Amino acid sequence: MKSVEIRAGQHRHDALIGAGLLGETGRFVRQRLGGECCAVISDENVAPLFAAIILESLRNAGFAPGLITIAAGEKSKSLAQAGALCEQLSLLGLDRASFLLSLGGGVVGDLTSFVASIYLRGIPYVALPTTLLAQVDSCIGGKTGVNSLMGKNLIGSFHHPALVLADTDTLATLPDRIWHEGFAEGIKHGIVRDAALFELIPEVDRQDPGAFVERNIALKAAVVAADEREENGLRALLNFGHTIGHAIEHAAGYGNLLHGEAISLGMVVAARVSVRRAGLSLGEYERIVATLRGCRLPTTLPADFPREKIFGALPRDKKFENGRIRFVVAHEIGRASVSEEVTMDDLRNATSSL
Ligand SMILES: NC(=O)c1ccc[n+]([C@@H]2O[C@H](COP(=O)([O-])OP(=O)(O)OC[C@H]3O[C@@H](n4cnc5c(N)ncnc54)[C@H](O)[C@@H]3O)[C@@H](O)[C@H]2O)c1
Repeated sequence: MKSVEIRAGQHRHDALIGAGLLGETGRFVRQRLGGECCAVISDENVAPLFAAIILESLRNAGFAPGLITIAAGEKSKSLAQAGALCEQLSLLGLDRASFLLSLGGGVVGDLTSFVASIYLRGIPYVALPTTLLAQVDSCIGGKTGVNSLMGKNLIGSFHHPALVLADTDTLATLPDRIWHEGFAEGIKHGIVRDAALFELIPEVDRQDPGAFVERNIALKAAVVAADEREENGLRALLNFGHTIGHAIEHAAGYGNLLHGEAISLGMVVAARVSVRRAGLSLGEYERIVATLRGCRLPTTLPADFPREKIFGALPRDKKFENGRIRFVVAHEIGRASVSEEVTMDDLRNATSSL
C-alpha cells in the first residue's frame, strides 16, 4: 500500500492506494473518525459489486452504516438529486457526528462530497473512488459539485475528504470504455506538469495500475497544496482542455459523451490553440493526439454532433471571467500556462477541425 499526504490550507488527509483496501475500510476509517452512524452513497452499478464488503467492514469496526443507491451516470449530478439525498440522510438519522462514504466514480464522488458539504452545514466524508478517472483525479482536491441547466459543475463547494481509499482492485470490473476514459485526466497531468508521466501512459498495465494512480495523486496533491482555491494560476493549469471539453459535454447532453471523452476532444482543441499561441511544436501536437487515440479516446466529433451548441455553452463557463477568455495553453509536453491572448476566433478555428 502507498500513502500520499494531501495538504490544503489547514486541512490534511491521507490518500491510501493499493489492492485489497476496501475490506479494511472500517479499520482505516476508525483510525480517523469517531461516531457511529454513517451512510455509503453509491450507484446502481457499483453498489452490487462492492457495497457488501464495505458495510461489513464498517460494522466490524463498530459503525452503523446505511446504504443509499442512486442511478448511475452524469444526470445524477444534479441539485434535485443532492436535495433528495439530504432528505434520505435525515431519515437514516445522520447527525453532526455522522459521516458519508462515496463509493463510485467521479459522479458519485462529486455529488456525495457536495452533499457532505451542505448537510447540517457540513459533515465529514470518506472517498472510495472506483474508476480510473476518480482515482487519478477527482478524489483529490476538494472540488465538489453538481451540474445545472447553465453548465457543468457550476454549483459546488470546496470540501476535502477525511480519507481517500483508492483500491486498485475495483478497476478490474470497469467496462473498457470507462477504463479508457480515465486516461484523459492522466494525459492532461502529463501535458501540464510532468513529461515523464506523459511518456508512461502507453505502458500502464491494467493488471497493475497502482504506480500510475499514485503518481497522478502525488502530482495533483502538489498542485492543490500550492494553490487550493485556484488563486495563483497553478491549479488553473488543470483546466487544460476543459473549457471546450465542458462545452462539448454540455452540448452533447449529459451522459452521451463520457467526461473523459469530452475532455479528450477539448485537449485536441487546446493543443491546436497552443500551436498557434504558445509555440507548441507540430510534432508534440501530433504526439498528444496519437496518445489520446492510443488510449482509445475520441479526437474527432461525430458528423452529426450539434457543433453550434458548443459555442452556445461557452460564455457560461466559469473560466470566462469578466468576458475575457483565460485559456490554458501548453508550450511543450510538461509545461503549460494560462494565456489571456487566445481569442474566440482561435477557439472556433481549432474546434472546426475536430
Ligand atoms: N471534482 C473533481 O476535481 C473532478 C475532476 C475530474 C472529473 N470530475 C467529474 O467526474 C465525473 C466523471 O467521473 P467518472 O467517469 O468516474 O463517472 P461515473 O461516476 O459516472 O462512472 C462511470 C461509470 O462507471 C461505472 N462504474 C464506476 N466504478 C465501476 C467499477 N469499479 N466497475 C464497474 N463499473 C463502474 C459507474 O456506475 C458509471 O456508470 C464528471 O462528472 C466530472 O465532472 C470531477
